[in-house]
Amino acid sequence: MTQTGIAHPTIAASVRGITKTYGTGDTQAIALDGIDLDIHRGTLTAIMGPSGSGKSTLMHVFAGLDSATTGRVMIGDTDITDLDDDALTLLRRRKLGFVFQAFNLVPTLSVLGNVELPFELDGRKPGAGERAWINELLGRLGLSGLENRRPHELSGGQQQRVAIARALASKPTLIFADEPTGNLDSKSSRDVLSLLGVLTREYDQTVVLVTHDPVAASYADRVLFIADGAIVHDVGRSDPKALSDIILMLEVAA
Ligand SMILES: Nc1ncnc2c1ncn2[C@@H]1O[C@H](COP(=O)(O)OP(=O)(O)OP(=O)(O)O)[C@@H](O)[C@H]1O
Ligand SMILES: [Mg+2]
Repeated sequence: MTQTGIAHPTIAASVRGITKTYGTGDTQAIALDGIDLDIHRGTLTAIMGPSGSGKSTLMHVFAGLDSATTGRVMIGDTDITDLDDDALTLLRRRKLGFVFQAFNLVPTLSVLGNVELPFELDGRKPGAGERAWINELLGRLGLSGLENRRPHELSGGQQQRVAIARALASKPTLIFADEPTGNLDSKSSRDVLSLLGVLTREYDQTVVLVTHDPVAASYADRVLFIADGAIVHDVGRSDPKALSDIILMLEVAA
């Protein structure tokens, strides 16, 4: 893998000069319009912004699930911009956890089968410590006792929590979560957000989450606001009211 030597040990991931355009000519859409961003290790970063502003696209580019039109992406000290598919797949599998906006659970697998999928794909079984961690995750996420159910036998909120458990199962260094609390009631949301906070503080994991909910974003160490594919505000930990005020101001400006 490419080692550039410019990476800083406290930076978990970064992008420079990222643009992303879809289509050409009249139908061209600019999803990302020049993004520079460092994500610090062991922190929880929230990304907010209107629907269609580019939040999911940015997460996909960061995680190497989609390529940028221009710009460079670093995960840790690895420049993934020109990595081939095999190397990228390995890096994603070993280092990244991703919670998709659509949960992407495998319908034919049980809850446990879905949660253990990252190990399966890596060609191994979870060890004793990893099984204990998976059990703890299932407990913290309110999924204990549902291990043998299939996704269609779960509520939307339960499916969302399975997707979260799957993303966290292998203790990835970097976790991207797209609206991880979008389908959850306030108690489940708080549980998920507290868990993500614990990961950053106790295990030095790094979490980037997209949310429309100022209460969810108030758990973050840093909150970025995206509008029309660009970062327009970048604030430290803030209370929900302060975050709502920024959103309102952006909506008025739009
Ligand atoms: N595959 C695609 N082809 C064409 N345009 C796309 C594609 N994916 C996204 N876009 C466009 O790129 C822009 C950014 O989309 P994106 O999904 O990143 O928004 P978002 O901020 O995640 O929105 P939401 O809050 O609704 O999830 C939108 O205008 C969208 O229509
Ligand atoms: Mg989205």
